[in-house]
Order: sequence, then C-alpha cells, then structure tokens
Amino acid sequence: MRSWQHTVVLDASRSEPLFLQLSEALQHDIRAGLLRPGTRLPGSRTLAGSLGIHRNTVLAGYGELIAQGWLCTRPAGGTFVARDLPPGATRVPRERIRSRLAAAPGFPLGPPIPTARIPDFPAGVLVVAKGAPDVRRMPAAELSRAYRRALARHGRSLLGYGDPRGHPRLRAALAEMLASTRALPASAETVFVTRGSQMALDLIARALLGPGDVVAVEGLGHPGAWAALRLTGASLVPVPVDAHGVNVAALASLVEQRPLRAIYLTPHHQFPTTSVLPAARRMALLELARQHRTVIIEDDYDHEFHYDGRPVLPLASRDEAGVVIYVGTLSKVLAPGLRIGYLVAPQAVIARITELRVATDLQGDQAHECAVAELFEDGDLVRHVRRMRRMYRSRRDALVEALRRHLGSAIHVAPAAGGMALWARTDPALDLDRWAELGVEHGVGFLPGRRYAFDGGPVHALRLGFTPLEEQELEEAASRMAAALRAMAPRSSHLRDASQSS
Ligand SMILES: Cc1ncc(COP(=O)(O)O)c(C=O)c1O
Repeated sequence: MRSWQHTVVLDASRSEPLFLQLSEALQHDIRAGLLRPGTRLPGSRTLAGSLGIHRNTVLAGYGELIAQGWLCTRPAGGTFVARDLPPGATRVPRERIRSRLAAAPGFPLGPPIPTARIPDFPAGVLVVAKGAPDVRRMPAAELSRAYRRALARHGRSLLGYGDPRGHPRLRAALAEMLASTRALPASAETVFVTRGSQMALDLIARALLGPGDVVAVEGLGHPGAWAALRLTGASLVPVPVDAHGVNVAALASLVEQRPLRAIYLTPHHQFPTTSVLPAARRMALLELARQHRTVIIEDDYDHEFHYDGRPVLPLASRDEAGVVIYVGTLSKVLAPGLRIGYLVAPQAVIARITELRVATDLQGDQAHECAVAELFEDGDLVRHVRRMRRMYRSRRDALVEALRRHLGSAIHVAPAAGGMALWARTDPALDLDRWAELGVEHGVGFLPGRRYAFDGGPVHALRLGFTPLEEQELEEAASRMAAALRAMAPRSSHLRDASQSS
C-alpha cells in the first residue's frame, strides 16, 4: 500500500536547530506507532518542499536517525523506518510520547444509549438465532452489473447531491411493487427510502414523538424498535401478545386510561412469535387509531415470505383515515448489509421526515439505490423472491422435522404460516439460558425467548431462524441443540421421547 505523506510540525522560533527538531519529531512518531517499521519516508526534496526548509536540513535530520538506527536506506532508493528499532536509544522523554488516544473522554457522557444488539457467536457456530436471509444466494452478479451500468450511464448525477427521499427510480419501483403485491396505493411521492428499516423507525420516532408521549408496543417484540422509540424520550407501554398477535382489547382499555400517541406493531408475522393478526383485530385496531388519532407504525419486515393460506394485506392497505405509517425493508429479501429500507406515509409526514433526514444524513447512496432500482425493473428481484420463498418454505419444514426428531417433547413446534423463524414453545422446567450457553459450546447459537420480553421476564419459548441455513445445516443445528440439552439434563424424559421417535 502506498503511504500518505507523513506530517511533522517544526518551529523556526525555537533555538533547537531544525534538523534536530525534524529527527526528534520523526523519532517520536516512530516510538508512538504513528510511523510503522518498514514505512517509506518522503524523499528529501518532497519533504523539504512541504516543510519549507532546505533539502540539506532534511538530509541532516534523516542522517541523524540513520546513524542511530531508527531509519535505513535501501539500495533501490528511499529512506525507510528500520524494521528492528534500536533498544531504548532516545532523546525524547518517555512521558512526551503520546501513543494512544485518551482512555476516557474528558467530559460527561450523559445517559446510556439503549442497546438491542444480538451478541456475536464464535466462528463455526451454526446460528439459528436470527431471521436473516441466506446471503449466499443473493444475486450479487446481477447487482454488481447493475451498479456498473448505473455509474457508467448516470455517474455524473448519481455522484452529486440528490433527493433526500431516495432515488426517484427506486421510489417508483417500490411503489409499483407495493401496489401490486400488497394493494397499497403508494406513489413515488409517498415512499421514502432509508438505510434499512431501522433508520425508518428512527426517523418516524424523531419526527413524531417526544418526552411525555406514550407509545404502545408488543409485550413480546422487537428490542431494536424499542431502542429507537426510547431515544425520543417517549414512554413505552407493553401490550400482551397471544397466539393471534397483539391483544387489541387490552390496547383498547389502555387507550381509555391515557392518551396514546403511537402504537408500534408487527401484524403480518408478529415478531418474535410469527403469528398473523386476524382480520377482526385488524379492523378493530384501525378503528381505535382513527377514533383516538393515534399513529400506527406498521413494521412489515418480512412480508414477502408467506407460505400457507391466503395472502394477508398490511393494515396500511386498508387505512382510509391516514393513521398508518408503513415500514418495509429489503434486508430480508436481499441482504441486510445493503441497508435499503423504506417507509410509506401521507405526504405531510414525508415532508417532515425529509427535513429530519437532511439534518441527519442529507441523503442516501444514490448510485446504490439506482442499481437496486434496476434489479426491480429487470425482474431480477421478483425472480429472486420467488426462488427464495420456495427454498425457505422447504427449510421451514426441514427444521420442524429435525427439531421433532432430535428434541422430542422438549419443544413444541408448528410450522409458521410465514416468516423466517419458528416460535418453539419449551417445557417451563427447562432453563433456557443454560441451554443456550451449552448450545454455543456444542456449536449452535440460539437465544432464550426472554430476550424479546419487554420486562425481560421468563418466556418459555425459543425463536429459531431457519432461512440462513441449508437443510443439512438445520439438521445438524437441531442435533447440536439435542447434544447441549443432553449435557444439561442427561436423563431428561424429553430426550427419551426424541430417541424413540427418531
Ligand atoms: C421486526 C424487525 N424490524 C426491523 C428490523 C430492521 O431491519 P433493517 O434495518 O435491516 O431493515 C429487523 C431486523 O432484524 C426486524 O427483525
């Protein structure tokens, strides 16, 4: 790698000769690790020019350090930091070497930022903790061709400042997709592209909420969304979730007690339980929001992956009162690393969010957004979604089967009608924290259901993602889960059931 030109500061008003100041400054930077062994130093002419000193001064400074063993010259030309530095030889006092940034800030940090990160699992662990897509199948060649085409054809406009709402072609493509697959009457004017749906949640929260506002959230839900909502200073109130999603009757009694500014929900495949909110609850919810002028933030993070039964439309598709803000993402369809999400809202909300985005981030990555728009326009994305839906459905069935075979009555699983994970109920006597810990030791990563509980209390269930792994990997993951369970409870009656049924 070519080096940047190293900067030193000399002070002509000091009595110390400039060549000594130079050699001392370089020696300091070598000892502080700012100049690494083997680094090539600028030529004497170049350095003299940039420092405004005579070349002979640079040569004298370099010569001093060569004599002491800090620098060396090579036959092919050039002066380098020596690979083996002289032990201890220095004129720079140790206390004047500043080799690290300050260990702690010299100012108060303020209140802690709420965190919602999933822990990293060690390499080699089969991770079933996440409902993530299988990025090995992502149409990367198509995307890189689209990127190259976009830059070649529209580079000049794409590399400048652009529309903070997102590239117009991507907004139009998303609107068309939403209209045809979800009966959502969106247009390029009511779609706003973000860097992932997490940013959409943050922008919506900051545009509409503040301290003193009350927001209802699912009592078993998505900690990432709670973190974004909490940052506004709003108070979150959990609402119970049952086998059919959020309990709308409980929500109705909550709204009678105190004004609700917003409700954050995942109605399509409830996160984490995957249940689908029935039609009657949906209608009641929309009516409730209309009557109380409450915002519904509908997070439809994995809409594309519905396998059984009739398609279910988002709340936003039936919203005539303008109470729903719809949030979607390409993180599950393509890859989370691409950071493309979107929101759909009435134009006045879009205008507010546009101002907020300009103050935060100015705009998205236009070249990237334009390339992704091409994937929509060329049909690559439609084909990819169809292929992945079929594949994920088989993986869902494979994991259900493998869990039943390996884990017997320790967990109760039913195939989810849609989504990217199973919500597996467990025997209340099982210590899920310990099982998850032993799981990592046995090479499988999963999280206890408690992680999704608003109050952090015990939840006798696991959310097991099936989409990122091949069927044989899912089989292996289930077998490792059983091995971990055996290590925890060697004589468990659950596992006797499992061995009989396998
Ligand atoms: C329910 C839910 N909403 C939103 C997100 C955020 O996704 P992204 O910001 O990658 O679009 C996730 C990610 O896992 C999720 O599970």
